[in-house]
Amino acid sequence: MPMNDPSPLAFLVRPELAELAAYVPHPGTYAVQLNANEAPDLLSPDTRRALADAMLPPSLGRYPESHAESLRELVAARVGAGAHEVLATAGSVEAISLLIGTLGRPRQGADAATMVTTTPTFFMYKHCARMHGMHVVEVPLDDAWDLDVEAMRHAITRARPNLVFIATPNTPTSNAVSEDRLRAIIEAAPDSLVVIDEAYAAFARQSAGRLRREYPHVAVLGSLSKLGFAALRVGWVVGPAAILHEVDKFRLPYNVPGPSLRGAVFVLRELGAELVRLTSFVIHEREKVAVALAGMGFGVAPSEANFLWVDTKGPCKEIFEGLAADGVLVQSHHAREGRIARHLRITVGMSHENDRLLETIARWAPGAGENARRG
Ligand SMILES: Cc1ncc(COP(=O)(O)O)c(C=O)c1O
Repeated sequence: MPMNDPSPLAFLVRPELAELAAYVPHPGTYAVQLNANEAPDLLSPDTRRALADAMLPPSLGRYPESHAESLRELVAARVGAGAHEVLATAGSVEAISLLIGTLGRPRQGADAATMVTTTPTFFMYKHCARMHGMHVVEVPLDDAWDLDVEAMRHAITRARPNLVFIATPNTPTSNAVSEDRLRAIIEAAPDSLVVIDEAYAAFARQSAGRLRREYPHVAVLGSLSKLGFAALRVGWVVGPAAILHEVDKFRLPYNVPGPSLRGAVFVLRELGAELVRLTSFVIHEREKVAVALAGMGFGVAPSEANFLWVDTKGPCKEIFEGLAADGVLVQSHHAREGRIARHLRITVGMSHENDRLLETIARWAPGAGENARRG
């Protein structure tokens, strides 16, 4: 929202908000939008219609299920948990905010609770922590964009965080964290809640879900957003029942709207084959785009997500703007400092969108001269 004159009540606003900006998606419309890690829409017209029918409740005048029981049971069955270990949320960002809000009690002698996370990672961990007045310790990823176990251990020992947030696969870097590294962090933080964000797990070789069953202080986040259903705004957290019991008090009633809840149940119950088709398609296209970009001389990190982390080998502002001028929107990190500033994050889209990206970006191929010379 545009800012008008400062309010005379500004002195009542939480001071942490002064350092935050409201989330604003990139403005404008582009023929090819590969900036938000959304999934290509592969649903047939019949399936779309069946989903739309399923979403309409028998009465729009009634509140939806109060505790999203039907969705929680389905998620629980998929991950080998009890329904009491699942909380359904309006996108997994709501789960992030609820967990931080609930586990916000400062430890003895501290002025505020602390979160430990990595950098770069999903910006909402820090945003939600700060909006709840929590301190944030960000531990840089190592040279290969992987979790730096020693630095994380050190941060955990010093900061004694209430929460540790790790995304695997991570955004924007696209790589998954190995089970050994996750285990090392979980064991280093026995009196914190370690939250593993698996928003992109469907595109990865393995899920970290097993760790939740092994350790009582681990929670795992899931979402339908990267599977073709971002518009539904449905996510969940699977975690320790006693903690979720408290989180449930923090949750506002009917947090997941009825049509979204019904839609999510339909997706998980009826569209298993479509989800498999989507993930296979994205993984196939991802590899195609990765090979093509690497062939042009770009650095492409091994991806286990539905997007690629591309080192342009130089400042990427010009490439980002050139792509946008041609109707192809990607996410650029040129405004950041350090090695990140050379990187674009490119979502895998429909085949024709990926082809258009490749055609356009070829103009800035770092190896173009070399390849031409070799050819
Ligand atoms: C790592 C990660 N977690 C969670 C989310 C948010 O997902 P949702 O749409 O379920 O709120 C995103 C979205 O980009 C993400 O990258």
